[in-house]
Amino acid sequence: MASLNSACDSAPDVALHFPTRAERPGKLPHAASLRAAPNPAFLNEGDVLKRLFGRVVADYAEFLFYAWDDEREEVIGAGHAIPAAWDGDTASLPEGWDAVLEARFDQEPPTPTVLCALGITIADEWRGRGLSRRMIERMAEIGRDHGLDTLIAPVRPTLKHRYPLTPIDRYIDWRRQDGSHLDPWLRTHERLGANILKVAPESTVTTGTVAEWEEWTEMAFPESGTYVVPARWCRSRSTASETKAFT
Ligand SMILES: CC(C)(COP(=O)(O)OP(=O)(O)OC[C@H]1O[C@@H](n2cnc3c(N)ncnc32)[C@H](O)[C@@H]1OP(=O)(O)O)[C@@H](O)C(=O)NCCC(=O)NCCS
Repeated sequence: MASLNSACDSAPDVALHFPTRAERPGKLPHAASLRAAPNPAFLNEGDVLKRLFGRVVADYAEFLFYAWDDEREEVIGAGHAIPAAWDGDTASLPEGWDAVLEARFDQEPPTPTVLCALGITIADEWRGRGLSRRMIERMAEIGRDHGLDTLIAPVRPTLKHRYPLTPIDRYIDWRRQDGSHLDPWLRTHERLGANILKVAPESTVTTGTVAEWEEWTEMAFPESGTYVVPARWCRSRSTASETKAFT
């Protein structure tokens, strides 16, 4: 979990705009890679995500925003965030992605004090061109527009899956020669002023039957145990009829 108090300005790009869903409602043309199902498939199967994400889109359209390509007239990136309550004390940070959504859609949600990032996705053909930085800046700006000056983020380090044997609390300390994070997604957040506050070891949980997990991962799980599944960092724990994964 990381927090960011101020965002930097970056050079404007005449071809791109970053409207919110409230400003551009309705069905929008999305770049093909944004329309495609995520890979791996279980990224769409989180327990809380399936239960509550529709309400994030419906109820918090002013915090959902796009990267809009004027030339192609389509969405090439999307960012999701939601107001959350946090008193600034590391000990009271939400336990992760699931906890932030559960709290917001509670019967009596606490008064929001910060904006919490839920995710940024950029179309394949636009990746690696520095767009993610502008998306994080836009997210922080939307928060400020609503009086939420601090952005917190349950960040999922994008290269962690390549190091499944390394505990996350060691991985987040790995640095390159220039002192920046080895992980590119942590690096991007740190460059914008974010600090890592704590590890959220079970930020989001996906529960499925063994058969479902075998389909999502294209692996076989012949016996109960702990498995490493490909493509994203997560541990999967299987019992006879059910498998859970933590990311
Ligand atoms: C993660 C994601 C948003 C990054 O967006 P992006 O626009 O491609 O990222 P940028 O071009 O701004 O690059 C940010 C950093 O990551 C590095 N990077 C980008 N793609 C990389 C890759 N495949 N492997 C290693 N490093 C990579 C860049 O070099 C850059 O580091 P640098 O500033 O030190 O050069 C994008 O890859 C994505 O949509 N992924 C799928 C969804 C996802 O995992 N979102 C993150 C969790 S919410």
